[in-house]
Amino acid sequence: MPPISRNLTRLTMATLLLAGQLSPAPLLAKPATSASAKAPVDAAGWMRADPKMDRFIADLMAKMTLDEKIGQLTLLTSNWESTGPTMREGYKDDIRAGRVGAIFNAYTAKYTRELQALAVEGTRLKIPLIFGYDVIHGHRTIFPISLGEAASWDLQAIKKAARISAIEASAEGIHWTFSPMVDIARDPRWGRISEGAGEDVYLGSLIAKARVRGYQGEDLSRPDTILATAKHFAAYGAAQAGRDYHTVDMSERTLRDIYLPPFKAATDAGAATFMTSFNEVDGVPASGSRYLLTDVLREKWGFKGFVVTDYTSINEMVPHGYSADLKQAGEQAMNAGVDMDMQGAVYMENLAKSVAEGKVDTARIDAAVKSILEMKYRLGLFDDPYRYADEKREKATIYKPEFLDAARDVARKSIVLLKNKDNVLPLAATAKSIAVIGPLGNSKDDMIGSWSAAGDRKTRPITLLEGLQAGAPKGTTVAYAKGASYAFEDAGKQDGFAEALALAAKSDVVIAAMGERWDMTGEAASRTSLDLPGNQQALLEALKRTGKPIILVLMSGRPNSIEWADTHVDAILEAWYPGTMGGHAIADVLYGDYNPSGKLPVTFPRNVGQVPIHYDMKNTGRPIELGAPGAKYVSRYLNTPNTPLYPFGFGLSYASFAYSPVTLNKAKIRPGEPLTASVTVTNSGARAGEEVVQLYVRDLVGSVTRPVKELKGFEKISLKKGEKRTIRFTLTDADLAFTRQDMSWGSEPGQYTLWIGPSSATGSEASFELTE
Ligand code: BGC
Repeated sequence: MPPISRNLTRLTMATLLLAGQLSPAPLLAKPATSASAKAPVDAAGWMRADPKMDRFIADLMAKMTLDEKIGQLTLLTSNWESTGPTMREGYKDDIRAGRVGAIFNAYTAKYTRELQALAVEGTRLKIPLIFGYDVIHGHRTIFPISLGEAASWDLQAIKKAARISAIEASAEGIHWTFSPMVDIARDPRWGRISEGAGEDVYLGSLIAKARVRGYQGEDLSRPDTILATAKHFAAYGAAQAGRDYHTVDMSERTLRDIYLPPFKAATDAGAATFMTSFNEVDGVPASGSRYLLTDVLREKWGFKGFVVTDYTSINEMVPHGYSADLKQAGEQAMNAGVDMDMQGAVYMENLAKSVAEGKVDTARIDAAVKSILEMKYRLGLFDDPYRYADEKREKATIYKPEFLDAARDVARKSIVLLKNKDNVLPLAATAKSIAVIGPLGNSKDDMIGSWSAAGDRKTRPITLLEGLQAGAPKGTTVAYAKGASYAFEDAGKQDGFAEALALAAKSDVVIAAMGERWDMTGEAASRTSLDLPGNQQALLEALKRTGKPIILVLMSGRPNSIEWADTHVDAILEAWYPGTMGGHAIADVLYGDYNPSGKLPVTFPRNVGQVPIHYDMKNTGRPIELGAPGAKYVSRYLNTPNTPLYPFGFGLSYASFAYSPVTLNKAKIRPGEPLTASVTVTNSGARAGEEVVQLYVRDLVGSVTRPVKELKGFEKISLKKGEKRTIRFTLTDADLAFTRQDMSWGSEPGQYTLWIGPSSATGSEASFELTE
């Protein structure tokens, strides 16, 4: 066995420093919320009993030594790339020695075949490896970033994007994606807000389901389906002050009502694996939380897959001050319910000793091993370990034209029109010369955003300039000047301004392509400001002074502070990082070939000081509306209104939609009885368009205070010019459930207000009562 090499990284230094010095905090002592484990809805089919599999795995495990079992619990990166310190080298030797059960950051049919051969030809028991990878918003064909996809509010499109990602990834040897990230995120300072579905628990839960089903399909044994991972369990999005990896502390009620439901939805959809988060929750690091991993996940929700840690997060329990040393950290993680150790090699190096000392039960190890072997079996790897490593299939699959078309379609659907003064968009036929200005106007690198790991960011992505040029009507010219820089250090510079202003002066319209560099969001990319970085704001103001119509196309992975732009420019499009086909998609919207239909999945604050701000706030005892205008002793700021710049659910169209008053089929419902709320939506605009019709509810008085609004339903519809449609939503008291004062889950009788409208800020209103 080769020596274990560790770099003296920041992390290992901390580990050494702290080893033996700290005593662990007690496990989170929380009552299990329900006694009986309910089997989840078996959407993927993989949870069905399989006696043949059970026999196979029992026979195999009977032959395994403790070391071979521990090997199955270890996930190591190849040497391709990593998001943290490399704790271990020599991964190939580890595979040959049976010390590894799974590998990540390895793909292509050829490479995974080579590594798989080391396992199935080189080890005593020939147990195949699982290959995992961060296939987050596309594998080779890159879709918009996850937050952008969420803005489509189109569950079918989101599912399809995940399905295509799985087809491409599986053709390159990948069995397992570390996606979807289902963390609710309400703080745009946190860079990883870009990786999730935004701030809302209802929308987030439906998207979690759609993504899990897209990756896993109906049948895991098909070679084009891959295991999904619901991550990061749990509450990672609530990091203090938006700083990545920071402390999370929240009430048990908020955890249950807001942060856990998308994970529950992922379990119900059949998510095969869960990943723990880096943060602590209520003083306990998630990878050591028996409450989260066993009481909630396995016992309450009935999860049957396996739990993997995030990157070295067992090791990090030492600097957290929860474990005295790595050995104890491993024991705490294993006993809490972590089955697989990502990259920390803690199980590999310590678990056998812990078993010998009686600190970890062999039955617990067996349960973890079994859950991993079962997934290998369900993937069909014991029948053919190379079934995902087929170079012919790989060649025929990646970047298929139909995948690129789908990426363009999802990107168009994800774009949100935030302002359109005097219908300056779509671009008029009279706009014969278009100036594209700004650092994101012709930058391939940026188009696909972060976590587009296998995506080609150098040649494939279509930039905005290329998209506009390709789609330009005859006789229209499209020219480009970079003009500004998004680099933080360029804030005071004006190098490119003259060229950009000269181009603007001789053009009919200016498209300002601004936002953030792709790696300013994502992991370890938190900011304390939401402003446009670099000297972009200064250039935007200078462009405004030219008197030309200005259209801001924003590309970024978080809500930015664009209050100035909202007041001064003519139109604003939020295009996120739109993916491989992004330039075409934005051009489709600008030219009017696609009528924008996206709605914000996250609130846009006026400035960073309003953060955290989300639509489902509490009312407080002194709501601003109760005071006279300018009243002092109400809940408000002296210098900024309470309202956001753009509310959750907001997005304009080139059409306009009129909502009728809401009608209810009854004024009172009993528990279990359905309430139907209807509204007629008319396309009163001049062209066909899509609208996301949204239903919100407020529970006026509760045993604990309730949010001022909660999304409870939506439907995305398409209406021709002049067309009208009646939309009906059905609710029962189950949709009104929350964690009540006694911590039980359920609804409460009383009065409710209901709104149906185009965003969380407006809508037609009705009232109903839920009786006993
Ligand atoms: C991230 C995870 C990711 C993992 C593997 C970590 O740093 O937090 O989301 O899946 O790396 O790449």
